[in-house]
Amino acid sequence: MDLLIRSTPAEVAAEAADIVQHYANAGATLGLATGSTPVALYQELIARHKRGEVSFARSRAFLLDEYLGLNPEHEQSYYSTIRREFTSHVDFRDELVKSPTGTAADPATAAATYDKAIRDAGGVDMQLLGIGANGHIGFNEPSSSLQSRTRVITLHPQTVHDNARFFDTKEEVPRFALTQGLGTISEARHLLLLATGSNKASAVQAMAEGPLSAHCPASILQMHPHATVILDEAAASRLEDREYYLYADQNRL
Ligand code: PGA
Repeated sequence: MDLLIRSTPAEVAAEAADIVQHYANAGATLGLATGSTPVALYQELIARHKRGEVSFARSRAFLLDEYLGLNPEHEQSYYSTIRREFTSHVDFRDELVKSPTGTAADPATAAATYDKAIRDAGGVDMQLLGIGANGHIGFNEPSSSLQSRTRVITLHPQTVHDNARFFDTKEEVPRFALTQGLGTISEARHLLLLATGSNKASAVQAMAEGPLSAHCPASILQMHPHATVILDEAAASRLEDREYYLYADQNRL
């Protein structure tokens, strides 16, 4: 795992944009994430696209997850969110931006179909990830099997609480979601996890320095041959080996 520590969220976004730009210009299959963390990255990519520096015309995308029961047209569905915050502002072909079907009559089958669609597309080249305050990636909550596939998940009460800010009332926040599993995510060839803010510091420490454990699903990155983690100082503040990570970042062969 490469741990890159930057001073500010803006520097995290710029560093991540360099990586995404490289993949997009090569026509790669991108795994996209929603949530607050990647918004600055998406804004940076939109700005670079307008300057002609990055094109998504040859890329396709798979989202990590989707709320169960929300219509795609609902403004808080991840189908809508990724279009509003990113893909509709660049040259992504809309029909190639895929997400799990949150309104499927048979969610378990929809989950398996989505997992297969990723494989059939040749897999994900670069998967963008955020991390929950409880260590989740995608919606793989603590206790998720480290080999899990795309499936229905019961959202942790903390996740429901964290996501309530996007809804008018707490009652409206979905209690279930479809999420790529940890096994599914692990098959992406490059994982790029971003974390900013002190509320992520404990989860980041557990991910990078704690045991490999279903209790911290993000710790699966420890098993991945190509994982890049970009943190701001606040998210990195509880790392015990912070000095080494800075040194290694500045001293690469
Ligand atoms: P956030 O969510 O970017 O909104 O903090 C991250 C996550 O829960 O994966």
